[in-house]
Amino acid sequence: MNILIVGGGGREHAIAQAVKKSPKCTKLYCAPGNAGIAAMAECADIKVMEFDRLVKFAKKHEIDLAIVGPDDPLVGGLVDAFEEAGIRAFGPERKAAILEGSKAFSKELMKKYGIPTAGYEVFTDAAAALSYLDNVKFPIVLKADGLALGKGVLICNTLDEARNGVKEIMLDKKFGTAGNKMVIEEFMTGREVSVLTFCDGKTIKIMSSAQDHKRAGDGDTGLNTGGMGTFSPSPFYTKKINDICKKTIFQPTVDAMKAEGREFKGVIFFGLMLTDSGPKVLEYNARFGDPEAQVVLPRMKNDIIDVMEACIDGTLGKIKLEFEDNAAVCVVLASKGYPVKYTKGHLIKGLDKFDEKDGYYCFHAGTKKSTKGIVTNGGRVLGITAKGSDLHKARSNAYEAVTWVDFDNKYCRRDIGKAIDEV
Ligand code: AMP
Ligand code: GLY
Repeated sequence: MNILIVGGGGREHAIAQAVKKSPKCTKLYCAPGNAGIAAMAECADIKVMEFDRLVKFAKKHEIDLAIVGPDDPLVGGLVDAFEEAGIRAFGPERKAAILEGSKAFSKELMKKYGIPTAGYEVFTDAAAALSYLDNVKFPIVLKADGLALGKGVLICNTLDEARNGVKEIMLDKKFGTAGNKMVIEEFMTGREVSVLTFCDGKTIKIMSSAQDHKRAGDGDTGLNTGGMGTFSPSPFYTKKINDICKKTIFQPTVDAMKAEGREFKGVIFFGLMLTDSGPKVLEYNARFGDPEAQVVLPRMKNDIIDVMEACIDGTLGKIKLEFEDNAAVCVVLASKGYPVKYTKGHLIKGLDKFDEKDGYYCFHAGTKKSTKGIVTNGGRVLGITAKGSDLHKARSNAYEAVTWVDFDNKYCRRDIGKAIDEV
């Protein structure tokens, strides 16, 4: 099969690595890809929102399966564009990707179908949102309705902060049109877990749990980022909790989408909070997580193409998803200053030491080829990932591998996976 992956981050590198293992893959393309993906696929310099060019490319190269990685093109309808051109594509159609694309939609869905989540109100009018704040308990959570690069969530401790937040989102349009509507919701406490699942519109299969580290600094300090590291599985996500989630969250979500005429085929990533009163949904994503995919996919035993085709064909019920009985940790190497201001173009050394046969992976995120070699080209540069027989071993392996690579202004958190010490 000729396969095209759309996207160019660490997640897409992890998808590419899994696809490459499939005997069904004869030729792999990626748009736009990055320097790491270029070692295993032919990269095309097309941006993820250039739908016409992507469809044209897919037709020209007789693509048998297109896999869409990031949220923006999914929410914008890239899968529909491929399908209209007769190209099979993995990922939800636009009408289903709204599960991630609109927080107001997802909250209303959960309310209508009794799926546990934080209590909330939706606002389309800043004045109404501001007066609602007079009677809420703090902290309170403000969310821009649309996609905002993971930055559209504000946790406000005081009335002043919250009023300011409403102004930023709805009046100053800090997150653009994503702030035309907003959700104000109750603050929940508990441990967070990400659960990645495959879905064929009616059946849902759970991959594995993972935990992200969203803040830039050690001890969960500093600004929110795209994710500074992950581990999988989460030891806090027990079998008992999984059973509850299956019954009260996962299957009800798939059924709800179907009942709404929005059959979801692809990956649903459930962002959950394990609260004292049970697991609740923080958010839905309509795609693999980044950097969750980096710790989940290397542990998957199935041929990923078989699973993706089963999602498209509605035959996921026949697939037995299997994972290695081990663990993985991913430590993101970022450019110092991320997520605010950082320099690019620094030569990266030590990339040749990684061998997936030994359980070590160096997933590229912000990298680029140059005349001097592979150089840094973004805030999150690499996802250094290692497997181990358990989480402790995986963590020490990952931090050992972090020392293999060097570039100017290299920065990483030192406490990825520290939570496992509490088990
Ligand atoms: P989201 O993009 O919705 O996942 O939100 C980003 C982060 O904000 C989450 O990972 C949580 O840490 C936090 N968050 C979101 N909603 C809530 C909530 N209702 N209560 C507490 N924390 C929240
Ligand atoms: N790591 C969080 C996300 O992919 O949204």
